[in-house]
Amino acid sequence: MTPRFVARQLAHLTGLLGLVIPLLTNRRIVARQLAHPTGLLGRVMALLMNRRNAQMNALAVRQLTLSGTDRVLEIGFGGGPILQTLLANAAFVAGVDRSPDMVARAKAHHARAVDEGRAEFRAGEVEAIPFEAESFDKICTLNTVYFWRSLDEGAGEIARVLVPGGRAVIGFLPKMHMDRLGVPLDIFTPRTPDEVIAALTRAGFREVRAEQPSSWKVIMLMAAKAEAKETGAASRLV
Ligand SMILES: C[S@@+](CC[C@H](N)C(=O)[O-])C[C@H]1O[C@@H](n2cnc3c(N)ncnc32)[C@H](O)[C@@H]1O
Repeated sequence: MTPRFVARQLAHLTGLLGLVIPLLTNRRIVARQLAHPTGLLGRVMALLMNRRNAQMNALAVRQLTLSGTDRVLEIGFGGGPILQTLLANAAFVAGVDRSPDMVARAKAHHARAVDEGRAEFRAGEVEAIPFEAESFDKICTLNTVYFWRSLDEGAGEIARVLVPGGRAVIGFLPKMHMDRLGVPLDIFTPRTPDEVIAALTRAGFREVRAEQPSSWKVIMLMAAKAEAKETGAASRLV
């Protein structure tokens, strides 16, 4: 590498940062990218989200209590911070994201697992999950409920693709904290934990449990889909 080559690369990088940084400080542009990461900026956002959401995503993996035979689905995986961990701990990992760019990224990053039939990534939305009924033992979705068109449709679809007794983990920043961030309300719909719990209950989940690590603002909901023979009271959550 000659000094001239290094100088040219630095100039390119500086030019790129000069372009990207003003975009990343524009609240609406950032909000739109969080809702639907696209293009070069979407790739930058994916890296930033992976860093920022790492701790919350790691907690979700622990709460899924994966076993080596599990088929697991992540909805709205974005930059995919936990896809590798899911692959290491489950038999099969699927991902659905409404951003085709994030789907292409996940397919490229996990090409070997996809080729081996251990992973599959599809473009789609939580309101119409592109998988058959009862395809998964576990499902997680993190930082996505603000973008769902309908909590009832999303919860209903998650229940449809889970096996009876299957578990779902849903993590998000509750409305009381989201409201303070001043997010654009035509892009984000802040949700209260009670609203999400009610939608999960209407969809047939039992004993929806909330966990909020003491120093965190995010909340994690864990729910089990009712067993086929359940009438409404019992639960397999422990
Ligand atoms: C804020 S990012 C969160 C990414 C990742 N889960 C995390 O916590 O770092 C939201 C992701 O969910 C996807 N998304 C938003 N609404 C969705 C929907 N209705 N159905 C499926 N994916 C959705 C977006 O494309 C984006 O990749």
